Amino acid sequence: MRKFNLILVAVLLSLSGLQAREGMWIPVLLEKYNLAEMQQMGFKLTASDIYDVNNASMKDAVVLFGGGCTGELISGEGLLITNHHCGYRQIQTHSSVENDYLTHGFWAKNRDEELPNPGLSVSFLERMEDVTSLVLSGTEIENDPEKQQKIINSNIIELEKTAQEDGKFKASVRPFFYGNQYFLHVYKVYTDVRLVGAPPSAIGKFGGDTDNWVWPRHTGDFSLFRIYANKDNEPAAYSKENVPYKPKRFFPISIKGVSPEDFTMVFGYPGRTTQYLTSDAVRLIREQRNPDRIFVRDMKLDIMGRHMNSDPKVRIQYASKHAGVSNAWKKWQGENLGIDRLAAVEKKKEFENEFKAWAEEHGRWENEFRPLLEKFNDLYGQYAPLAKASDFYAEVVWSGVELFTLSSYLQMLIRQANDEGEIPESARIAVKRMAEGFYKDFHQPVDEELFFTLLPVFGKKLPASFVPADVLKVISKNTSSDQFLKLYRKSVLTDQAKVISLIESGSVKKMKLLLNDPVFTMFSSLRTFFDTQINPTLKEIEDNIETSMKPYMAGVMEMMEGQMFYPDANSTLRVAYGRVEGYQPRDGIVFKHYTTLEGIMEKDNPDIYDYDVPSRLKELFQSKDYGVYADNGELPVCFVASNHTTGGNSGSPVINAEGHLIGINFDRCWEGTMSDIMYDPEQCRNIALDMRYALFIIDKFAGAGYLLDEMELIR
Ligand code: ARG
Ligand code: GLU
Repeated sequence: MRKFNLILVAVLLSLSGLQAREGMWIPVLLEKYNLAEMQQMGFKLTASDIYDVNNASMKDAVVLFGGGCTGELISGEGLLITNHHCGYRQIQTHSSVENDYLTHGFWAKNRDEELPNPGLSVSFLERMEDVTSLVLSGTEIENDPEKQQKIINSNIIELEKTAQEDGKFKASVRPFFYGNQYFLHVYKVYTDVRLVGAPPSAIGKFGGDTDNWVWPRHTGDFSLFRIYANKDNEPAAYSKENVPYKPKRFFPISIKGVSPEDFTMVFGYPGRTTQYLTSDAVRLIREQRNPDRIFVRDMKLDIMGRHMNSDPKVRIQYASKHAGVSNAWKKWQGENLGIDRLAAVEKKKEFENEFKAWAEEHGRWENEFRPLLEKFNDLYGQYAPLAKASDFYAEVVWSGVELFTLSSYLQMLIRQANDEGEIPESARIAVKRMAEGFYKDFHQPVDEELFFTLLPVFGKKLPASFVPADVLKVISKNTSSDQFLKLYRKSVLTDQAKVISLIESGSVKKMKLLLNDPVFTMFSSLRTFFDTQINPTLKEIEDNIETSMKPYMAGVMEMMEGQMFYPDANSTLRVAYGRVEGYQPRDGIVFKHYTTLEGIMEKDNPDIYDYDVPSRLKELFQSKDYGVYADNGELPVCFVASNHTTGGNSGSPVINAEGHLIGINFDRCWEGTMSDIMYDPEQCRNIALDMRYALFIIDKFAGAGYLLDEMELIR
């Protein structure tokens, strides 16, 4: 009996030792590095089930959705699922006051009702391949890093050109580990992608910005699209003749549910992480960059929020802009908390000391790595003030004051004029469309306030050497909001009709009147100043840091030989794996691994926009009509797992040990948002929508159960 207990304890210990797993791994290298561990954690399939060039594999069911999300195929007829927030723009574009799909949801009742989305594409990875030696070939005989980089760039262009096979594919060669390795990725891109279904925002965006980045969560963050192809199943521009795409693979959906400790993997396109930064870089983010950007966004959100709350029309106009500003603003705050809690800067320093000891031991400190680490210190010292300038220009000028954005469109138009000062019609049409879109969501009182609030701050926070003299003069001359207001109201840019007729005139001569416009001229000065006085040095330092990271990274990998390394996310296909598990955010609090419809009802509050539960959902809750989607009488909504994810993983499939779809990834928890910089297995969790909630919404809530007929459900 005693012996048995001991064994049991040992087994339990070893099981719990296999917990959260840091890393975003390269699909073609799973067999070599990860498979054994994945199988030990419960994965029942093989590496070639995930990625195979010769046979259909899971990778054939995963797409890069648009520019920055992931989606996955869930039927043999091209049906695709991704997040509601990934399809948000498409849903919004199809919405009008009469057909407000954002508010009421949208469900195509048949193929004819599916809505095309010009500009939207999905990319399938055909293959990926290590091309390091080809990319570096010819660099061996060069010592000058600049010349080496030129050779590398031209090798890359050549490789991509060949792989494109005359436009049949899209090809891209990307550096991994700061250029210590290169991979070629070849994609097939489909451009006829139609909207099939979306729940109302009260479900798909439930909790809004209040709940964003936070667990426990109750967002039904999904939408459905369908990929169309020509009759040979190949990519084709939108046409009525196109037919649903027949994928090589699609995911069966498991409704068996999830339990703590279950193996899970996330397969998708994480955008960008920076796990190998030096302590100087992390300190800069923590002490300067995040606080600066949060500071400006606090003001923007306050301004937009106040106007949105007092006028329903303004709320719609600024919904998407506000969400965009708020998303990163909130993440940076969580990131800072996490950096402090982990003492990330100190940890990086400790690591650098270990690295130094190793380099000394191998006689490589004095001449090789000491100068390199000193160089980082020096470079970040020079970089800090420029990064500040770059952040304030970004937050105030490039995407702050809205008339500056409009000015940038007009500048773009003027630049396209020929020698006679005529602007091509295509440019006029394009910019006119942009301007109309701009005014549709423009509410002057909001922008006036942005102008008189942000500009003085810009002048105060940046050293005079980073602001053009004429702008500085305006800022110091106008000391009150009223004075700024007067200036703003003199701008012709506030007058839609005049601006549109200017654009239509197509004549640069007419546009000359902009040269007296107070807002346009201010923008022009800022643009020119930034491009000539700031950006060249900024870029040079950034490039220098980037190239210096290559030998540092190589040194670190040498020091830690035998350990597993994963490259930073770079918008290429990756596998993250871990387990379904809750966590302890603070002393005395334990978070469960899942949430239910019960929690949506607890949050219900018709007075708060983000928590206004649709009455149909309340009815289903009252009658407990959950069908096969129930779990012990409850309706599951979301769950958390320890998969290492980042922005871009939105919409990624969350897959169980058998390779079935159990969830859609859509967020990370608050306590783990620093995972782009440093991962903490105790606190980092990805948040997924439970597939059973998505199916319940489609079937019971929307009455679109016919869509389930083409899916494969595993009961
Ligand atoms: N935080 C998630 C992500 O980074 C969801 C964002 C949805 N947008 C929002 N503002 N609520 O994309
Ligand atoms: N919501 C994020 C996205 O749009 C994913 C969450 C994250 O950053 O982990 O990609």
